[in-house]
Amino acid sequence: MIVCHCKGISDRDIRAAVRSGANTIAAVGARCAAGTGCGGCHVVIDEILQAERAPQGRSGAGVFGRLAPSR
Ligand code: FES
Repeated sequence: MIVCHCKGISDRDIRAAVRSGANTIAAVGARCAAGTGCGGCHVVIDEILQAERAPQGRSGAGVFGRLAPSR
């Protein structure tokens, strides 16, 4: 799912940035450019950051786990 429409960055790209060490919105932007345009996606990037920090973050539960139907 595209999170950052300005840069065409998906939640998968943002998770990869977080898992490679980005721990702030600015750091995510530095790694994959998400959030470096209008800033409208910052809330979702922050939710992904929080989900990845949570113990269950890597299990697939998180912002999109809540929104998307499970398979
Ligand atoms: S939608 Fe991400 S910076 Fe504009």
